[in-house]
Amino acid sequence: MDTVLSGIRPTGRLHLGNYFGALKNFIRMQHDARCFFFIADYHALTTHPDPTHLHDNIRAVLSEYLAAGLDPNVATIYIQSDVPQVAELSLLLSMHAYLGELERTASFKEKARKQPDNVNAGLLCYPVLMAADILLHRADKVPVGKDQEQHLEITRVLARRFNTLYGVDFFPESQPYNFGSELVKIPGLDGSGKMGKSEGNCLYLADTDEAIRKKVMKAVTDAGPTEPDSPLSEPVRNIFTIMEAVSDPATVAYFREQYARCAIRYGDLKKQLAEDIIRHIAPIRERMQAIAADENYLHQVVGDGAAAARRSADETLREVRAIMGIKPF
Ligand code: TRP
Repeated sequence: MDTVLSGIRPTGRLHLGNYFGALKNFIRMQHDARCFFFIADYHALTTHPDPTHLHDNIRAVLSEYLAAGLDPNVATIYIQSDVPQVAELSLLLSMHAYLGELERTASFKEKARKQPDNVNAGLLCYPVLMAADILLHRADKVPVGKDQEQHLEITRVLARRFNTLYGVDFFPESQPYNFGSELVKIPGLDGSGKMGKSEGNCLYLADTDEAIRKKVMKAVTDAGPTEPDSPLSEPVRNIFTIMEAVSDPATVAYFREQYARCAIRYGDLKKQLAEDIIRHIAPIRERMQAIAADENYLHQVVGDGAAAARRSADETLREVRAIMGIKPF
């Protein structure tokens, strides 16, 4: 069985694109593989976030993922800093990471440009810590977006270098995983492009019904079809793409037909879309609020997750220490 690991940044809230994209796949995958999901709070420290907000952000993100369907009875869900073994593995791996290759990493160069007054060693070693996250459980597959593929490449370089140097076949060559054709891409409602935090066009799982209605009613459309069966413009196609993810096939077919007959009213289309989005989001939002307020439950989930992750981490570190020559007296 494959081991799959995914790291979640404790910043930003989940939006519809995350939900119908990677998250739905995570939820499906957790039953078919040995899955680890963790919140990368050590990584968040590379940018010096406000200590009073870090914990609240972790709680919010954790509650969202649990509400959306990550199941702590099936997958191992933990907070990175609850498993400090990762810091030891990161230190050990850093002995095999060269300054030049870390300095050449695109994410490091970008951060160094963005925060020139805080080019700290944590930033430089970000990919080593990420490699440690992955190799701590000897993960085979790591679901990541394009922006993280270089970090996966570095993880493989470190794994290969370690295996070669010590003459072992210990670390796997962890592969990035993007779900291929299973990945549903949700566009934004602003005419073109995908839904994304940096695009500022997100429908968040935490949005109120009213906020969703407002955002959807403002969606960009066009002047409407003038001839039967004319092709869809991009903004209207985007609306239909979201509708396909959230609405009944019969509803989508109805509006497609209205469009083909030049009888469509975009106001009606948007109203229907908003209600169908709310049908998906409202129950998740309510679960999320209940989970975020349930100290005992969160305490239990995080405690169980940490215990399981530490067991796996201890196994790896026992072997890594022995391979590197660190031995008990
Ligand atoms: N760097 C990842 C991001 O920014 C988060 C992350 C940290 C991660 N450690 C990981 C992702 C290990 C996958 C595996 O999204």
